Amino acid sequence: MKTAVFSTKSYDRHYFNKFNTSSEHELTFFEAPLNVDTVNLTVGYEAVCVFVNDNLNNEVIVELVKNGVKVIALRCAGFNNVDLESAKVNGVTVVRVPSYSPQAVAEHAVALILTLNRKTHKAYNRIRESNFSLERLTGFDIYGKTVGVIGTGHIGMLFAKIMLGFGCNVIAYDINKSNELVLAGVEYTDLDDLFGRSDIISLHCPLLPQTFHLINEDSINKMKDGVMLINTSRGALIDTSNAITALKSGKLGYLGIDVYEQEEKLFFKDLSEKIIQDDDISRLMTFPNVLITAHQGFFTREALEEISKTTLSNLSDLEKGDKCQNEVKI
Ligand code: NAI
Repeated sequence: MKTAVFSTKSYDRHYFNKFNTSSEHELTFFEAPLNVDTVNLTVGYEAVCVFVNDNLNNEVIVELVKNGVKVIALRCAGFNNVDLESAKVNGVTVVRVPSYSPQAVAEHAVALILTLNRKTHKAYNRIRESNFSLERLTGFDIYGKTVGVIGTGHIGMLFAKIMLGFGCNVIAYDINKSNELVLAGVEYTDLDDLFGRSDIISLHCPLLPQTFHLINEDSINKMKDGVMLINTSRGALIDTSNAITALKSGKLGYLGIDVYEQEEKLFFKDLSEKIIQDDDISRLMTFPNVLITAHQGFFTREALEEISKTTLSNLSDLEKGDKCQNEVKI
């Protein structure tokens, strides 16, 4: 299928070319994101392949259809950046990669916890400057702590199992309970109880109207003083300015984020010689107890392979007129 691939990085090109073996699909790689300013690039393409920060609102989808595009192939699991109603009305098929490496994201959430707690990032820099002091590197035992998991789907379930392995008391909230986790020893509870009892809270639910700013002033006030909050899901689950207020007061003891509400203008770009215009991220970057990674939870070899293979297979299914099991329907 003739496909315009947006927001392309070197690793996308590498893995897509590697698995598009018989050149079954005609892929054109654009570094630009897909949005209202770049949609004109899609004239003559049958499909677009997009990532988390491409913006497929109604205006873009209407233009895509005018340009001949019939398929939106997301090379990610989340689809909060696509107006599904508009896609349906305009007859555009949306496919995604529902699960490429849930282990990768669950393991990254644990990496954020361990780094924030044991301050290995600071130790690394100290040692490079021959500073072998342990002052201010004190952490806490993760063993025996209560970990609250919000969303126990593919990623949240694996994360919960890892934390059980650490000897934690794992409690969870999800609109659908997992019997497997209950049998493994996870206790499901309501959100307020989870907020009140957890030493560490990790977010693994999707961004939906119901979960937008799930973490806000009200919910933070229900948490333990000094709680650790981890978000590898979607930035807008957290009200950033409320989180900054709670960090300043000490209510939030640690914040580890792989996703950020306004990440679209920042993440996946080298802005080291630019003036950052986003004051919230600039403020977050000043806290000693905040760790930010730029949406790299998924970023393992295994995940990149799975993303490109599944996306190419989704395009093949649609080209052949077969039913695609990864279609996103509303
Ligand atoms: P999933 O669909 O397997 O699981 C999501 C879970 O959230 C389900 O169990 C669902 O019942 C639950 N849920 C839905 N609405 C809820 C609500 N209102 N309150 C509580 N729970 C609710 O999704 P998966 O694969 O586990 O991914 C989770 C999120 O991780 C995705 O939505 C995506 O935003 C994010 N993600 C982040 C990546 C990264 O690189 N940082 C990579 C891949 C996904």
